[in-house]
Amino acid sequence: MHSPSPRSLVDLPIRRLNRGDLVPCADLCEDRGWPRDEHRWGLLLSAGTGYGIDAPDGKGLAATCLTMPYGSDLTAVGMMLVAGRYARQGIARRLMRHVMEMVADTPLALYATEQGQPLYEDLGFSPVGRAERVGGRFEAIGSGGSPAVSASVAPSSSALPSSASSVTTRPAAADDLQAMVRLDLPVFGTDRTHLLARLPAFSDRLQVAEEHGELVGYAALWPSGQAAVVGPLIARDTPTAQALVAALATTTDRPLRADVDARHKELLGWLTEHGLEPLSRTTVMTYGIPDLPGDATRRFAPLTVATG
Ligand SMILES: CC(C)(COP(=O)(O)OP(=O)(O)OC[C@H]1O[C@@H](n2cnc3c(N)ncnc32)[C@H](O)[C@@H]1OP(=O)(O)O)[C@@H](O)C(=O)NCCC(=O)NCCS
Repeated sequence: MHSPSPRSLVDLPIRRLNRGDLVPCADLCEDRGWPRDEHRWGLLLSAGTGYGIDAPDGKGLAATCLTMPYGSDLTAVGMMLVAGRYARQGIARRLMRHVMEMVADTPLALYATEQGQPLYEDLGFSPVGRAERVGGRFEAIGSGGSPAVSASVAPSSSALPSSASSVTTRPAAADDLQAMVRLDLPVFGTDRTHLLARLPAFSDRLQVAEEHGELVGYAALWPSGQAAVVGPLIARDTPTAQALVAALATTTDRPLRADVDARHKELLGWLTEHGLEPLSRTTVMTYGIPDLPGDATRRFAPLTVATG
């Protein structure tokens, strides 16, 4: 029924994506060598706004893009994907221009791959940081690694400063959400209750860190392809982040993956010591603000690079 379009690709209509588009979105990911990630798309399309261009050959989607709004403070952009057979014909540029029009004056943030970065630079985005993707089997070193209702601090605790010695971690309970939101707000820099409230259903495991009954960190573990992704990872300091990762690692047989803010070299070094390897890197870019809001010293990893 669809006639192969004689029009230029950049004239194809952009439409809103919904949960009925999960499979074509996953197909597009696969087309570009990304994990299909239907689970992640489910979260993104329910908490954010997806845009897509139907392929003129009738075979699924030619392109996708996702915006995750945080009020008028910030919109994160992610899942910019163009099917290989339609690449280098201006589709990503068109989608990004459309998103920029839709959000008007709201500042934007994204994690750019090497392929995407030149386009975003051209559109006026500035690089403000980097994230290192690491992955692999987490090897517990040192501690007994009891599968952890109340995992005490981390393996290699001898290397940990005394500030972390009384930190414990445990699975989050329903009534932790308020404290998580309170901790998260100054760290992420803007309210993301709409995402945090979805974490218990989205994650395989949600872990909190406490000291003297006060919440000092939290982290989630969720499935992506063969891996289990750690994110968000919010913690008072590196030892607390380590304790959370070590506790999450005991709950899965899958290799871990995380997109760690490159400023957190100590955590990256520790993850490498525990068997994870560098996989790739992305450049954090903003438009309309000089940097990401919040407190990078306590923000170790995003929920996903698509949510900022
Ligand atoms: C990055 C991507 C979305 C670009 O889509 P596209 O429709 O091919 O991009 P456009 O045709 O609109 O090109 C816009 C500009 O992006 C840059 N660009 C596009 N593809 C590129 C590539 N493979 N390598 C380097 N730069 C590239 C160029 O600056 C290009 O301008 P030019 O054609 O005048 O040189 C697409 O290559 C893709 O889906 N890649 C895999 C997933 C990915 O990395 N997504 C980005 C996440 S941040």
